[in-house]
Amino acid sequence: MGEGLLVRTDSPTPDASTRVSSSEALRCEGVSLERIAAEVGTPAYVYSSDVVRTQFQRLTDALAPVPHRVHYSLKANSSLGLLRLLHGLGAAADVVSGGELWRALRAGFGPHEIVFSGVGKTERELEEAVDAGVLLVNVESERELELLDAIAGAKQTTVGVALRVNPEITVETPHAYIRTGEKGNKFGIPYDEVRAVARRAQRMSHVRLLGLDMHVGSQLSRLEAYAHGIERLLELLAQLKADGADEIRYLDIGGGLAVTYESEEPTDLVRYAEIVVPAIRDTGLKLIVEPGRWIVGNAGLLLTRVLYRKRSGGKDLVVTDAGMTDLLRPSHYNAYHRIEAVRSAAEAVRIDVVGPVCESGDFLALDREIADVQPGDLIAVHSAGAYGFCMASNYNSRPRAAEVLVDRDRFAVITARERYEDLVRHEVDVPDWRDA
Ligand code: LLP
Repeated sequence: MGEGLLVRTDSPTPDASTRVSSSEALRCEGVSLERIAAEVGTPAYVYSSDVVRTQFQRLTDALAPVPHRVHYSLKANSSLGLLRLLHGLGAAADVVSGGELWRALRAGFGPHEIVFSGVGKTERELEEAVDAGVLLVNVESERELELLDAIAGAKQTTVGVALRVNPEITVETPHAYIRTGEKGNKFGIPYDEVRAVARRAQRMSHVRLLGLDMHVGSQLSRLEAYAHGIERLLELLAQLKADGADEIRYLDIGGGLAVTYESEEPTDLVRYAEIVVPAIRDTGLKLIVEPGRWIVGNAGLLLTRVLYRKRSGGKDLVVTDAGMTDLLRPSHYNAYHRIEAVRSAAEAVRIDVVGPVCESGDFLALDREIADVQPGDLIAVHSAGAYGFCMASNYNSRPRAAEVLVDRDRFAVITARERYEDLVRHEVDVPDWRDA
């Protein structure tokens, strides 16, 4: 393993489920997954409050030596039940759309606890951010900055901004789709243009340049990306300060901390802190981090029931009641999610676990060794708390799954399973034609 790979385990990877003994069913904290399936049905997402708390706490502890704010990235999972839990823990929020802003406010986050990121904010979304009075809009282009200044001006107010910089560094992630800080990427302001955009910002009367921001990628395999990215941001900071930008007080280094899906070494938080803390300490700036997956990824699992067993082309297949419409990651990113039978069986088989959707790309796992499950048995798809439910769709007119939050010996449905009526809620039976 090369230098800098994430090799130190400062604490074991938390898991949303445990098996008390080999004869027992998997449980989430004190609640049996069989009980949840019986009462709520399947497919269902099940989250452990304890894992969310632990992950949040581990991160704040690691960053404790510097003034910092943890802005949980709603895109990983924006269900109100989880947002309220996180807000109660002291998390702030990172949103990327008007919808996420609305959710964050609805979940009780104050406007000053919200940063608004996103490469394509509409005029309406920028207005909503100004109206709400968010802490920072992370601006990604000169045109966006002009629009924001005009919007704030029309409302005779000012808005705090951070410039999202594309640090243009090499990033390692398991899939190219989740790299965001490389040259030519659509995200952020190209590095060489930031100084000029900052100068423009300083001349505007309705934006206040309060920060610099980056997000280099997600599920980062190497923490070096933070070191390089921060170095680039601090170089810029010196230039901007020389230009008279004296209000800058936030350095937002984005999210990206990796979780364990398969056999990856857990993120070494000690090393993360060793990179981030000294870099920030001398600047006098306040650190902002925007973790999503780190907080909720390992806190959730997808509970699904086996519908059928099949043999095709010499292969064994398990057809489950959850598929790509519930958890898109396997088919979209070829992502690995550990799969486990809720009741362990002595026999193991090598098998494809596929969903019910009419697409060959609809699978949860291919060629995987799991317990010899039969129709009616329950399966847990692990590490599905981040980018699971929030990326679900209604394709094939499949109602979206329920979400359940567990807290020690109790559980609550935080999102009800959709009903068929929900599928057509915004559709009309008879078109209301308008003449040309
Ligand atoms: N901040 C910004 C500006 C982001 O774009 C993202 C993620 C985050 C924070 C949070 O990153 P995290 O800490 O969760 O890595 N759907 C993909 C992941 C896309 C991530 C997009 N941006 C997946 O399922 O792997």
